[in-house]
Amino acid sequence: MFPTAVKIVEVGPRDGLQNEAQTVSTKFKTELIQRLIAAGIKTIEAGAFVSPKWVPQMADSVEVFKSLPTHADISYPMLVPNQRGLDTALELGVTEIAVFAAASNTFSQKNINCNILESMHRFRPICAQAIAAGLRVRGYISCVLGCPYEGEINPILVADVAERLLHFGCYEISLGDTIGIGTAEKSRELIRVVTRNNPVEKFAAHFHNTYGQALANLYAVLEQGVAVVDSSISGLGGCPYAKGASGNVATEDIVYMLDGLGIQTGINLNSLVATSAFVSAHLQRAPESKVALALLAKQK
Ligand code: HMG
Ligand code: MG
Repeated sequence: MFPTAVKIVEVGPRDGLQNEAQTVSTKFKTELIQRLIAAGIKTIEAGAFVSPKWVPQMADSVEVFKSLPTHADISYPMLVPNQRGLDTALELGVTEIAVFAAASNTFSQKNINCNILESMHRFRPICAQAIAAGLRVRGYISCVLGCPYEGEINPILVADVAERLLHFGCYEISLGDTIGIGTAEKSRELIRVVTRNNPVEKFAAHFHNTYGQALANLYAVLEQGVAVVDSSISGLGGCPYAKGASGNVATEDIVYMLDGLGIQTGINLNSLVATSAFVSAHLQRAPESKVALALLAKQK
């Protein structure tokens, strides 16, 4: 059954911009986040405390975080890959972090320089320390519907990694179709398998749109009760360690679909589309969102 309301986690300023070829200023990131808040989004991934050698576009995440307005009801999860990232988060007073694991050993190695088991050893004390300090911890799993290096991924492996991250205290697991290769039936099967031992409320869908399947896959998992969706304004994004992967489902497109289903998001579509136009003007290219393109064309 569809949920009555869906929480959107906006990942554009992090997932969207981490892969951007051109330099993006801190000022632009800050203004983008403020516009997303004005559109009604309450959870915005604002950056990543990762090695600037690995992901140069996230090098200003400390400055971005410091520049953000503090609102009691707005959360800015920051990605943390290791102890150093957690130390940064604690120093800054970040209230929510996200650790990121994978369901593929090769992807894990390429993304965070350790295999799945090693990443579990790394994340367990990070989660414990963060939770003891009062932070909320979200857990990501990449490659849940396929890996750019290993191909097919068994959903049982995803369920196993999810189980461990939940055991470490993650309040939610975001299931990443990193290369957007999933189909509706495979997405459904994934949710069936991961919810054998944990309730559907523990899972979020983080679907990239590389094969144009993200909305169809989201429709399928929403029907199973998934009520948290990660999306990216203008459909920005990709992963530097998954060559060819394109952006997440566009926030405009998923909000339009949810509006059509009568599912509440608390987000104003017109403000989102105006934000999409702001992104386009800045990056000098058209939005990936079909909804933004259609609505902006109507305004001309
Ligand atoms: P490493 O090379 O094994 O780490 O990388 P290291 O400890 O040897 O450090 C290497 C250098 O980085 C050192 O600098 C450290 O000081 C520095 P040097 O001495 O050479 O000058 N360093 C740091 N600097 C700032 N903050 C830190 C930090 N840690 C080390 N926290 C490491 C291991 C985890 C650091 C590296 O692999 C890394 O940063 N990886 C991040 C990759 C990444 O951000 N990928 C994208 C996000 S995941 C994603 O997009 C998928 C997702 O969207 C879901 C989906 O779609 O599937 C979440
Ligand atoms: Mg992603």
